[in-house]
Amino acid sequence: MKTIVSGIQPTGSINLGTYLGSIRNFVKLQEQYPDHHFFLFIADLHAVTIPRDPQALRKTIKELAAIYLACGLKKDNLSLFIQSEVPAHSQMSYLIQCFTYMGELERMTQFKDKAQKQEAVAASLFTYPALMAGDILLYDAQYVPVGEDQKQHLEITRDIATRINNRFGDFLTVPKPLIPKVGARIMSLTDPEVKMSKSDPNVKSRINLLDEEAIIKKRIMSAVTDSEGKIYYDKANKPGLANLITIMSALSDQSIESICATYQNKDYRTFKEDLAEIVIEALKPIKAQYQTLINDGSIDTILDEGQSAAMRVANKKIMKFNRKLGLGRKRK
Ligand code: AMP
Ligand code: TRP
Repeated sequence: MKTIVSGIQPTGSINLGTYLGSIRNFVKLQEQYPDHHFFLFIADLHAVTIPRDPQALRKTIKELAAIYLACGLKKDNLSLFIQSEVPAHSQMSYLIQCFTYMGELERMTQFKDKAQKQEAVAASLFTYPALMAGDILLYDAQYVPVGEDQKQHLEITRDIATRINNRFGDFLTVPKPLIPKVGARIMSLTDPEVKMSKSDPNVKSRINLLDEEAIIKKRIMSAVTDSEGKIYYDKANKPGLANLITIMSALSDQSIESICATYQNKDYRTFKEDLAEIVIEALKPIKAQYQTLINDGSIDTILDEGQSAAMRVANKKIMKFNRKLGLGRKRK
């Protein structure tokens, strides 16, 4: 079985940036790789490497699972599950740590960034790449779709897998990252120099997928542009407007050029009103599908099925790894 594996941390509401940069990509990959099985999980073990409010975390985990499905992922070649509900991930992380060097972990830029922001740094934040490598190696992933920021974690995964294979014979698949070429980078609505982010303290900077229509309209109408009043695409000098044009292009499948041609002689207000309409229409089916999934309880069934399928594959890998290492005992 050929597999594609990816995880998403449940650490906040999903916004338009995450949707256009990541979720939509998964939906496209499912079409592009119909003969691959997708293991997609909510990386809750990764989330607790930094202190979290337990109630908020639980709520986000289920919301995220429902949003992913609501965005159009097909269920036939997908196992969607919650990482902590498949104990093999924790087991694998320990085994992987036995083949991961301190020096390698010390080089991780994400660790350096995140550690700086913490008063006390948990050991799990340091060993995070070993958990992530385990997530991937458990399922023999050929490909791992991630954003640019995860590239270094994929490199260490490949190094560790190769090291283990060299020692014990090839039994782990060395994965390749899939990083989108047109790295859709949606910017903040209030500061187009930074990316739209769920951790931005200013709620006006983003549109969440489940926001109400009136809020969406308000956020777009008040998005930062410039005082020139003319519509054309110039990312360097008109980053706010360029970001809005990008969002319109991504959601309406019109090229940037054709949008600029249409709005050449129109004002920002008209453009923004049209954009708000496009965003509202694009999110409508996602919101409706989300409500259906939450109300009919089918999300639990899907997550249960995902858990079983993931456990079957992952437990086998752990048993094999244990045997390779000489752990446990041989039965008569
Ligand atoms: P995060 O929400 O930062 O945990 O990232 C989840 C995924 O969404 C990552 O693979 C990112 O590459 C992608 N992503 C997050 N924010 C944006 C954004 N503003 N524009 C494009 N992609 C994004
Ligand atoms: N670390 C990833 C992030 O922060 C999430 C993640 C955890 C992941 N395990 C993974 C991504 C395995 C791909 C494969 O975005």
